[in-house]
Amino acid sequence: MSYNRNANYGYFRGGTEISRNRNYPLWHLEDVLLPLFEKDYTYDSLRETIRSANHIWCAYEHGKCVACALITDVGTNGGLYVMLFGVRKSAQGRGIGKQLLESIIRWSRRQGYSFLYLHTEYDNKKAIGMYERAGFQQEVFGNIFREQLPQFGSDVLSMILFLM
Ligand SMILES: CC(C)(COP(=O)(O)OP(=O)(O)OC[C@H]1O[C@@H](n2cnc3c(N)ncnc32)[C@H](O)[C@@H]1OP(=O)(O)O)[C@@H](O)C(=O)NCCC(=O)NCCS
Repeated sequence: MSYNRNANYGYFRGGTEISRNRNYPLWHLEDVLLPLFEKDYTYDSLRETIRSANHIWCAYEHGKCVACALITDVGTNGGLYVMLFGVRKSAQGRGIGKQLLESIIRWSRRQGYSFLYLHTEYDNKKAIGMYERAGFQQEVFGNIFREQLPQFGSDVLSMILFLM
């Protein structure tokens, strides 16, 4: 099984090819994401999350999938929710996460989306650092969006990037 949702984006940068909604073999996504999120996801729940994503982004190096992001449209204000974002462990710390995130932000802005929203764990300093550098803010949004967005309780940090 593979995924191809109106593929319309892809480019090379420094040997890393970043694309959106290409014909990714399902196992490429699982191979990257399952080891990173096995604490919270089973094989089945990950598959369900992949199926529910409107926007699947991947980064490839030499034909190997090294990072993925699963994103879905949310609310009525043109928002996007990043359900999962991860870089294969062996490829971390080389700027791939940053490149993938920048591509997602650039594309989302060009498409006219109004915000990107996500949750991360409070102790995930690396992810929080990456998101903050990209312009995400912690918990500073008002009630306009809150009621339309997924809520995950008080043990996870909500972050938002306004695109307009
Ligand atoms: C978080 C994650 C996506 C980052 O990807 P990466 O490719 O390793 O990160 P990069 O090399 O692109 O670095 C991106 C930014 O992270 C931040 N960062 C990196 N290491 C950091 C650290 N130890 N402390 C704080 N910030 C750090 C920096 O802001 C860095 O940008 P800079 O190089 O301009 O300083 C990756 O580590 C990962 O997949 N982790 C497991 C899954 C996960 O936590 N996903 C996010 C949950 S929502």
